[in-house]
Amino acid sequence: MSQKIEKAVKMIREAENILVFTGAGVSTASGIADFRGPDGLYKWAEEKYYLPYPEALFDLNYFADDPRPFFDLSKNLFLLDSQPGKCHKLIARLEDLGKVNTVVTQNIDMLHQKAGSRNVVACHGSYEKAHCLGCRKSYELQDIEKDILEDRIPRCSCGGVIKPDVVFFGEALPQEFYTLMDNPPETDLVLILGTSLKVQPAAQFALNMAASHPAILVNLVETGYEEAMELFLPMNLESFAEAVSEALEE
Ligand code: APR
Repeated sequence: MSQKIEKAVKMIREAENILVFTGAGVSTASGIADFRGPDGLYKWAEEKYYLPYPEALFDLNYFADDPRPFFDLSKNLFLLDSQPGKCHKLIARLEDLGKVNTVVTQNIDMLHQKAGSRNVVACHGSYEKAHCLGCRKSYELQDIEKDILEDRIPRCSCGGVIKPDVVFFGEALPQEFYTLMDNPPETDLVLILGTSLKVQPAAQFALNMAASHPAILVNLVETGYEEAMELFLPMNLESFAEAVSEALEE
């Protein structure tokens, strides 16, 4: 493995326009479960909330019928008050060094921003903003956080349920993601970190970039796309971030 890490460090050292694409695997060290791993969110949510299928947690129709599982999950996420891990910090450091130009994350936890990354496209949205499902009135997180923490369904003045702007299955992704897909930034290295590459169109963006630029995939398990990568590191992302950070400080 160390030979592969050395190669990854060399590629990162030589790169000047790195595009980073992340999934839940970069946040597990921060205490946030991933979705499809052995201790993943989908495994326990299905049992805890008696869901018809795990993704119902992020399904608009299921939410309209019963928003409680999503808001209970949201409350747990807020209570975690998770902090950025070594991987988030490495990515922010690489941006400070002028090496990372864009971070595209599927994560809704805002940890890249908390770590100091500035150019972040949260392609599955986040809790920063929210909208009434009835009248579409816009809200901020602070307008609804107390309700969520006190187990109340946040409601608009019109009576409609207020849903955070987390992208549910079947919903459009933020326009900035599609703009990026149509006009990808100048890139000389793609880092794909902690994702099963199972969810479209986010995964297709990462695979398109990997098809046309050198790409390093770091993930605990195989995703089935290893052939499309210049380098695949089946390892823990915190260990990867530690090794790269140390090597770059030398
Ligand atoms: N180091 C390296 N890899 C890790 C680590 C870690 N510490 N922890 C987890 N992983 C890997 C898991 O093995 C898994 O392959 O990260 C991957 C995370 O995959 P998923 O759980 O499928 O999460 P993700 O790819 O982000 O899911 C994409 O699916 O449900 C939707 O909207 C949701 O954004 C999410 C999307």
